[in-house]
Amino acid sequence: MTLSVSDLRVERAGRIILHPTSLDIEPGARIGLVGSSGSGKSTLGHALIDDLQRQGRVVAQVPQSPDEALDPLRTMAFHWREAEKALGLNHDKQRRQQLFSALRIEHGDLRKRPWGWSRGMQQRFVIAMALIGSPELIVLDEPTSALDPVVAADTMDLLDKFLSGRRTAMILITHDLGLAARRVSQLMVMDAGNIVENALTTDLLERPKTQAARALAAHRSWLELPC
Ligand SMILES: Nc1ncnc2c1ncn2[C@@H]1O[C@H](COP(=O)(O)OP(=O)(O)OP(=O)(O)O)[C@@H](O)[C@H]1O
Ligand SMILES: [Mg+2]
Repeated sequence: MTLSVSDLRVERAGRIILHPTSLDIEPGARIGLVGSSGSGKSTLGHALIDDLQRQGRVVAQVPQSPDEALDPLRTMAFHWREAEKALGLNHDKQRRQQLFSALRIEHGDLRKRPWGWSRGMQQRFVIAMALIGSPELIVLDEPTSALDPVVAADTMDLLDKFLSGRRTAMILITHDLGLAARRVSQLMVMDAGNIVENALTTDLLERPKTQAARALAAHRSWLELPC
């Protein structure tokens, strides 16, 4: 079923940081949310998740850094159980094994705390946690910017593969138009708290209409980048 939000608006300290925004997200959509720093991407991501949760939809979020999702004092097993409980699910070892093998973290030691895992493995664990409830939408906010480029590309490849053929929609928030261009079929460009452009990836890269999109698309041959 289509996910819809209407007139999302966020004001902070007397300033509108997200102007009224309405969106429809189709099952299985692959959307990139791009724009310069401070344009309102994370604000929209949070507002979208909050609104859809209020509507009772199953949605999940992956923050930029695993530190935001993992408590350094708790074991990985504890995090996993808490995520299951938060979704009202019983522990299901088979589901965990399936997600761990999809994200290639099956050899991670669950008795360890986050710092016993590499950052790349931690982030893949966080992505696996976000997928526990088979969400209708997963919003990833700069999910690989703290990882080295090879680990980042591998992580996105594993996620792409897992999502392919599934109805989970994905919104990938990133500064990195190269990353987005390879991974999504639709791009939304934000500028000063507004979505100023929303188009198919190839159209937007070839024919950006707004100054914000032109600035992002300028100077590089995005579709030829390796990751
Ligand atoms: N809690 C807050 N109080 C006041 N202003 C805020 C708050 N959160 C965000 N802002 C402002 O809202 C604007 C949008 O911020 P947001 O974090 O959504 O941008 P962004 O596009 O995600 O940027 P980045 O690419 O750097 O992550 C910025 O100008 C930011 O300073
Ligand atoms: Mg942000």
